[in-house]
Amino acid sequence: MGARSYQVAVIPGDGIGQEVIPQALRVLEWLAARDGFQLACTAFPYSCRYYLEHGHMLPEQAFSELRGYRAILLGAIGDPRLLPDHLSLRGLLVPLRQRFDLYVNLRPVKALRGLPGPLKGDPPFDMVFVRENSEGEYAGMGGRIHQGGPHEVAVQTSLFSRHGVERVLRYAFELASRRSGRLASATKSNAMQHAFVFWDEVAEELCPAYPGVELRRYHADALAAALVQDPLRFDVVVASNLLGDVLTDLAGALMGSLGIPASANLNPQGGAPPLFEPVHGSAPDIAGLGVANPLAAFWSASLLLDHLGESRAAADLLAAVEALVASGRVLTPDLGGQASTSQVTDALLAQLEVGA
Ligand code: NAD
Ligand code: IPM
Ligand code: MN
Repeated sequence: MGARSYQVAVIPGDGIGQEVIPQALRVLEWLAARDGFQLACTAFPYSCRYYLEHGHMLPEQAFSELRGYRAILLGAIGDPRLLPDHLSLRGLLVPLRQRFDLYVNLRPVKALRGLPGPLKGDPPFDMVFVRENSEGEYAGMGGRIHQGGPHEVAVQTSLFSRHGVERVLRYAFELASRRSGRLASATKSNAMQHAFVFWDEVAEELCPAYPGVELRRYHADALAAALVQDPLRFDVVVASNLLGDVLTDLAGALMGSLGIPASANLNPQGGAPPLFEPVHGSAPDIAGLGVANPLAAFWSASLLLDHLGESRAAADLLAAVEALVASGRVLTPDLGGQASTSQVTDALLAQLEVGA
């Protein structure tokens, strides 16, 4: 393979993942042709449909196979025909994050010009969430006994290790020092006196190493309220796995729709392929209608290109998304428009043609 030839594993997954990922691939192919790089994309069928046929989300050897790729692009997982939901999510997405040790889940959240969001005055917020992605509340340890009986017990243990907490906090400190120097850390240390007090302590211990960063600790509930009432206060926000999950759906909604925000699951030390995906899920309520917003998938593709070092293509793609939204012409119904998923892609490609 040539220097600018990249092998990418593509897992469209379920529901609208099957609709938005092919559109993202159209855009990626267009950019590759324009900029003279090659994307060798291999599609994998792992999904709930695959589970219903094979009894598992993916075969064990898929983990080693996927490891060989430069990056993974994922749509979404989840199908109401396969319940409870954790069978699929803890069968594919969470294991990929944990086994590949993709401990940073990076989620940029930015107000898009011209898009009326739910916030008064449409404040021009621009922040990045750093969500711990390998342990915490998602450690997966626990169990149930006496199932179905009157004495049933369920235990789910969170796990916060110094290694895990320190590395994600360091990543957030470093990111903040490259941006505005403002870092907000979300915990619930007022109620959870072990794990979150520990998290707060590690965060304070790191401060002297990053003199250019001002750390502000928040209780996650108050941070949620401040995100709505004063979003301009925030730049880099770091949070545990579960708190980061909840806060980023809220932050995504502040952008105007869950159809917009994207995420990069990373191990900054390398050693495993990063995984790029929309923040949203498989949206069974609109799946099959052809109206899913592909912008989160495009944004994910832009994060992927940036990771590959194709920074011009990455920046132009993001700029085209922003220009398309600003023009307000071709938008899906979640953003108040009437366009279909593929019409948005056509408009995006036209935008790229003329230069964003
Ligand atoms: P969801 O994000 O799929 O949908 C929430 C709401 O947002 C729905 O009303 C949906 O129509 C809307 N929405 C989401 N993406 C959209 C888009 N691109 N365009 C327009 N509207 C969009 O969350 P949910 O309903 O809680 O979950 C549905 C399924 O997806 C579940 O099985 C869940 O576990 C799974 N899920 C998977 C991922 C993932 O694979 N990364 C993420 C979140 C949820
Ligand atoms: C996300 C999703 C997943 C998460 C689910 C589907 C397991 O909500 O990527 O935000 O909670 O991490
Ligand atoms: Mn989520």
